[in-house]
Amino acid sequence: MPTETVGDPLADTSRIEYMGGYINEALKAYEVDGVRLKGYTAASLMDSFEWLNGYTVGFGLYHMDFTDPNKPRTPKFSAHFYFQVMKDNGFPTNDDERMLYGEFPQGFLWSTATASYQIEGGWRADGKGLSIWDKFAHTPLRIFENDNGDIACDSYNKIDEDIAILKQLRVNHYRFSISWTRILPDGTKNYINEAGFSYYDRLVNALLAANIQPHVTLYHWDLPLALQNVGGWENDTIVERFSDYADIVFSRLGDRVKLWVTINEPYNVAMVGHGYGVAAPGISFRPGTLPYIVGHNLIKAHAEAWHLYNDKYRAKQNGKVSITINSDWSEPRNPYKQEDIDAARRVIQFYIGWFAHPIFNGDYSEMMKTIIRERSLAAGLTQSRLPEFTPEEIKRIKGTYDYFGFNHYTTVLAFPVEYGNLQHYDGDRILNFIKEEYGNPMIIITENGISERGPVDLKDSHRSYYYEKYINQMLKANLLDGVDVRGYTTWSLMDNLEWATGFAERFGHFYVNRSDPKVPRVAKESVSFYSTIINCNGFPDPASGPHDCMKQEPEGRNLQQNQAQCERPSATTDWGFERTEQRHKKNTEALI
Ligand code: FCB
Repeated sequence: MPTETVGDPLADTSRIEYMGGYINEALKAYEVDGVRLKGYTAASLMDSFEWLNGYTVGFGLYHMDFTDPNKPRTPKFSAHFYFQVMKDNGFPTNDDERMLYGEFPQGFLWSTATASYQIEGGWRADGKGLSIWDKFAHTPLRIFENDNGDIACDSYNKIDEDIAILKQLRVNHYRFSISWTRILPDGTKNYINEAGFSYYDRLVNALLAANIQPHVTLYHWDLPLALQNVGGWENDTIVERFSDYADIVFSRLGDRVKLWVTINEPYNVAMVGHGYGVAAPGISFRPGTLPYIVGHNLIKAHAEAWHLYNDKYRAKQNGKVSITINSDWSEPRNPYKQEDIDAARRVIQFYIGWFAHPIFNGDYSEMMKTIIRERSLAAGLTQSRLPEFTPEEIKRIKGTYDYFGFNHYTTVLAFPVEYGNLQHYDGDRILNFIKEEYGNPMIIITENGISERGPVDLKDSHRSYYYEKYINQMLKANLLDGVDVRGYTTWSLMDNLEWATGFAERFGHFYVNRSDPKVPRVAKESVSFYSTIINCNGFPDPASGPHDCMKQEPEGRNLQQNQAQCERPSATTDWGFERTEQRHKKNTEALI
């Protein structure tokens, strides 16, 4: 096929897809069907006179500059690709994709996640105040099919059902978030709504009784509407409001909750809520400025909550507090092109680095500061659109973490100007990046998952496939590269309100039948897949099997299994893991 006529003439990615697909089919014909195929010829060596089309279309592996009297030939991306296929004589499974058998450290945290607005419902129950998501969802055309979280999965009334499915999944942790307005209806400490608070009290107790440790997020996007009305995250008084809220929650639940997330995905709060405007509060008219102001206050609010815990609660409660940062991994679209390599680095520094750099390394990265300053000045502004931290603030924010909470879903292909999506399992690369860039912190993956749309199908093999690949990459990062990964959380326990895409996009292990008044949760196939990985604490080598941990108990095993779950040793809260360095040493020695 010819090279695309728009864009960079060397970046002929659709031809690579075409050639890769064709050669792979040819390989199947040869290997599977016994066709006596003897060779393959790529058309063409270089762009040339293309009959009726003249020089307007190029089929070449080499790009020709016909305007240059020297007629230089420059390899397109497809030339590099074809070279590799010839060198490999086909498509061998590369090391990256090969399965690694082995176990995670003892005491590994296996979890699944939800968020208050996405599952709870009970939007006005028992004195709950309104949040920005209540308002956003009740504004026509904001959410697909005008769905809203008024009832959602009715988790507010279904503690027992939710505990039952968590047990079925065999997780030892559960990550959920608190609805700020359920306990502080107007967002301030002026009035504590005991009835709303009791829901979390009962939930935490029920989890502990089931031997499942709570991992609690304070802020998963549902800001009190009353606070939005005075500027929300744009107004820096939010820092104190957030601290007050955190104080109440730590003081009431901290005797039982040992793992906390202050803020979920500050990038999305800042960018999606205040830049693109497709999430609450839905502001999009100052896209180059407001997200940076919001981001600045989010970082300060996080840091103050961490200090509060550190000074007032840590000695007694002995828990861990951090922020959850999200980022895609970014690959250069053309790995042979410096421009694209630089673009990929910028994506990461503006995504993960925006928040991780101040918290883990101190201050915004030089790259971010320079680029935003230069662009602001070039646009005629007198100062950078990125606010500055004072030296005291830089010091106060740096180091406000007890682990690296990380949400990761996919990879993007980077090149200057725009980017497209790619489904890829680059868990090990981005985990290695975190290790190198942020001083080898302990990492908990606080979200990872894949969705489906369309008719409900409980056979979610795509989900099991995705989890197998991702978790295996994570195991490689741990065993082979010494990345200190301590836990993993799937998104999500059950299908729920997927923000602006409503209930149409489903990420759950459990399907939630919302047309039945009982709102039952029904297991998809990935439940037994994930629970087996948990039960084996990784991937036992089939060659040394059979392995007891892989035997699934029959369906309807709840009673029996609940019993077993209670007998399992308690998931540790003292973080008594085998040290990653030791494991790493052991494993690399084994490899040598
Ligand atoms: C994340 C959110 C989570 C969920 C997943 C799919 O960005 O934190 O609530 O919507 O995406």
